Amino acid sequence: MNLVLLGPPGAGKGSLAGLLKEALGISHISTGDILRDEMAKNSLLGQEAKNYMERGELVPDELVTKIVRQKLVVNGAGEKGFMLDGFPRTKVQAEELDKILIEAKKPIDYILYMESTLPVILNRLTGRRVCRKCGALFHLKNKPPKQQGICNECGGELQQRKDDQEDTIRHRIDVYKENIRPIVDYYKRQGKLEIVNGDKETKDVQQALLKKINADGKCN
Ligand code: AP5
Repeated sequence: MNLVLLGPPGAGKGSLAGLLKEALGISHISTGDILRDEMAKNSLLGQEAKNYMERGELVPDELVTKIVRQKLVVNGAGEKGFMLDGFPRTKVQAEELDKILIEAKKPIDYILYMESTLPVILNRLTGRRVCRKCGALFHLKNKPPKQQGICNECGGELQQRKDDQEDTIRHRIDVYKENIRPIVDYYKRQGKLEIVNGDKETKDVQQALLKKINADGKCN
């Protein structure tokens, strides 16, 4: 099962990917997570990405496309399939992805377009906290950790992402709006786009998708 998760910042792509990873046993490829790891390692790629990411701008197409090609073609992605989260983000990336998928011989089964409204997005992202060690996601109100500032999973320290300040969130949303329409139109023409309401509970979104996958006979 190969999936693409599209949607604005805070639509719940990472949260849904966490549930689907367990349910379907497929690997989660988040370009945002990969770039943040590179930043933490202070690699050349991380240094280059840092300026763009902290301002809420997109990292150049060439850099992220190379990352995705490495994962899908060179490393082979997961045996049972993969979920792409945060890629593609421009029409150029969508076109490059098609070439990568042909090269990797891994066709996409579903493209999930998670729509979400501004008040929900702002509430989710200003309240998001992420474990420094294992990357587990929390929210100050919706999904608080048992102990303040500490990860339930591994005891790591929780932190706020630099780009989760309200002015940067608003800029990320503007950047998203500038780029999403041509991608949606591109995938609508391919007939693979599933529109889902990202404002709903993550488990409800997951169940609706699993039901559709079962009904289509696409289970692994
Ligand atoms: P990236 O890391 O991809 O961030 P994003 O797309 O802005 O998405 P988010 O991670 O903010 O949100 P999400 O939808 O995953 O929500 P989450 O599940 O975490 O990208 C960051 C930056 O990297 C970009 O700005 C860019 O610079 C660069 N980049 C990455 N990919 C790139 C590309 N392809 N091209 C160029 N540049 C690229 O949820 C958020 C919070 O809400 C959490 O606290 C969660 O607990 C809570 N929550 C989520 N869903 C629900 C729900 N249903 N109900 C209640 N609470 C919920």
